[in-house]
Amino acid sequence: MSVMVTGGAGYIGAHVVRSLREAGHAVVVVDDLSTGRAERVGDAPLVELDLAAPGARERLEEVVAQHGVEGVVHLAAKKQVGESVQRPDWYHEQNVGGLETLLAAMRAGGVERLVFSSSAAVYGEPPSGLVGEGDQTRPINPYGATKLAGERLVAAAGAAWGLRHVSLRYFNVAGAGADDLGDPAVLNLITIVFDLLDQGRAPRIFGDDYPTPDGTCIRDYVHVQDLAEAHVAALDHLDRPEREHAVLNVGTGTGASVREVLAAVRRATGDKTEPEVVERRPGDPAELVARVDRIAEVLGWRARFDLDDAVTSAWSAWRHDRAAGLAPIRAAR
Ligand SMILES: NC(=O)c1ccc[n+]([C@@H]2O[C@H](COP(=O)([O-])OP(=O)(O)OC[C@H]3O[C@@H](n4cnc5c(N)ncnc54)[C@H](O)[C@@H]3O)[C@@H](O)[C@H]2O)c1
Repeated sequence: MSVMVTGGAGYIGAHVVRSLREAGHAVVVVDDLSTGRAERVGDAPLVELDLAAPGARERLEEVVAQHGVEGVVHLAAKKQVGESVQRPDWYHEQNVGGLETLLAAMRAGGVERLVFSSSAAVYGEPPSGLVGEGDQTRPINPYGATKLAGERLVAAAGAAWGLRHVSLRYFNVAGAGADDLGDPAVLNLITIVFDLLDQGRAPRIFGDDYPTPDGTCIRDYVHVQDLAEAHVAALDHLDRPEREHAVLNVGTGTGASVREVLAAVRRATGDKTEPEVVERRPGDPAELVARVDRIAEVLGWRARFDLDDAVTSAWSAWRHDRAAGLAPIRAAR
């Protein structure tokens, strides 16, 4: 199949591009390179385009026609929670506006298959630790709200003109499938700790008095290589006549606490710096772990890699990027 991957020069997108090509698909990447890097897509064609810019729809229609696009994986989005609180309108314009433009171009070009990057951020602060796709969605920041709005737009296009779609709700994505595909963003626990260690500073634990076995928050870390393979399976799924579920969690189904992640970082890096315990952050649920029975049943997918695989590969890629003189992307202020 000829697949257009928006955001394919980004961290997750570059893994999706490689996995799709390994599975025999032809890929064209559309990316504005705002956080992505052209060298990550290898020799796949790359169209540099901001999906939210004026004229983007016409340009996308040209790409669809030129490459005979039959399916789309839509990852292009802004993803910094803090920045989304500062610039909610811009997040809406980029993430929801960009998707609207994409859907209009897909409809015009007769492209009927879409895999949409959603997020566990749609759940907000759920009452229990293990969350299923049928649980209430109540995002607590503008970023999560754009993802929920995206899921709804995609479902509405399904009802209106027959778009076949799957929204994948990613949990905490980590690791690297290759040293040149590491996560450059210092936005999740693992890369934040790497960045602090590089600066000779202690890792920080935001609260150790949560109602969890060791008092620290528990999250579900899914290896980016596993996640990329879920996209390939999701595209295949869109060709089946029966498609009961259009929203799927992507996680391991097993949680790891902040202390367990720090222990895995210690094993991977050999660094023994003692963590510092500081105040809780507002809006951090004690536990957020994916129910994964639905994705196993619908796509036949389950995670193969564990936390140590994610942390070890993330560290190797982190060192690779520093040795190459690449700067990490820190949170906007
Ligand atoms: N990383 C995570 O833990 C995580 C968790 C849940 C959901 N997601 C979602 O997964 C997707 C990919 O995230 P990532 O971690 O790879 O981030 P990333 O920033 O590395 O990738 C996003 C890519 O999209 C491009 N892009 C951004 N805005 C664009 C626009 N308007 N037009 C064209 N291209 C644009 C960027 O240049 C980049 O290459 C996003 O939709 C994100 O919200 C990520």
